[in-house]
Amino acid sequence: MSAAVKVRVPGTTANCGPGFDALGIACTIYNELELILSQEGSLVIEVEGEGKGMIPVDERNIVYQVIQKVLRKVGKKYHGIHIKMVNQIPLSRGLGSSAAAIVAGLFAANIATGNTLNKDDILDMATAIEGHPDNVAPAIFGGITTSVIQGDQVRYLRFIPPAKLSMVVAIPDFDLSTHAARNVLPQTVPFKDAVFNISRTALVIGALCQGEFHHLRYALEDKIHQSYREHLIPGMQQVFDAALDKGALGAAISGAGPCLIAFAQDHCDQIGAGMIQAFASKHIKASYLVLDIDTEGAKVIGD
Ligand code: HSE
Repeated sequence: MSAAVKVRVPGTTANCGPGFDALGIACTIYNELELILSQEGSLVIEVEGEGKGMIPVDERNIVYQVIQKVLRKVGKKYHGIHIKMVNQIPLSRGLGSSAAAIVAGLFAANIATGNTLNKDDILDMATAIEGHPDNVAPAIFGGITTSVIQGDQVRYLRFIPPAKLSMVVAIPDFDLSTHAARNVLPQTVPFKDAVFNISRTALVIGALCQGEFHHLRYALEDKIHQSYREHLIPGMQQVFDAALDKGALGAAISGAGPCLIAFAQDHCDQIGAGMIQAFASKHIKASYLVLDIDTEGAKVIGD
């Protein structure tokens, strides 16, 4: 007997400035995953779109590995595993490509094996694999999420702002692994910097919940990761300044970078063009995307 499922998972932007490892937003950019499990056959992995030629198509593939975790958890075994990934989310740029791959594999394998796990179980599993919940939570649930790790469980709150909010993402033409971007972070931060971030994280949440977006300009400021990462993203401050100058509400590193994200309600193309120009002034080629908030998260889709 074989089982087939096709799922779609959104990309995500994590941190939102001060909310390091806690805040995340699902974005309208998607990876699709088709999974066929059967008793006969072997492992076949196909990749289209982002990551084609770079993502391993053997047992090192993260989607394959997380599918195996679900199969072990639900006590099922298949010899034939056919994985087809169609990716829009650029790899290692700060838009949650690894979280999307993990969530897609867990979600698809769960559906294909009879849907015995719920989305909260998948969140706990995905967080254990990814190491932090800020990308996987919005990838699963859509919207904006704020998450905490409580023992071995993740507790989260999800909401959608009451007014439209767009995200202009400047994508420089180099990648940056999350591992490298976490390695430059300090073991401890000054007490006043912790207070700076706590107060702004609270304000980011309040501003997004209430639709009081004018607060974002200073609420998105951060003192515990962005300045430590600035040397990895040449032109970071100039790109932020350009975005604000063109009318953005506020700007931050997207996740661990190197993408930089500006929040806006209008003038998105002017903001994107300004951000690209600022990267160009540092001899870095970049492109931009205007994304909205995805409200659906991981879901099964038809053919
Ligand atoms: N919170 C994470 C970080 C997001 O900034 O390292 C990247 O996955």
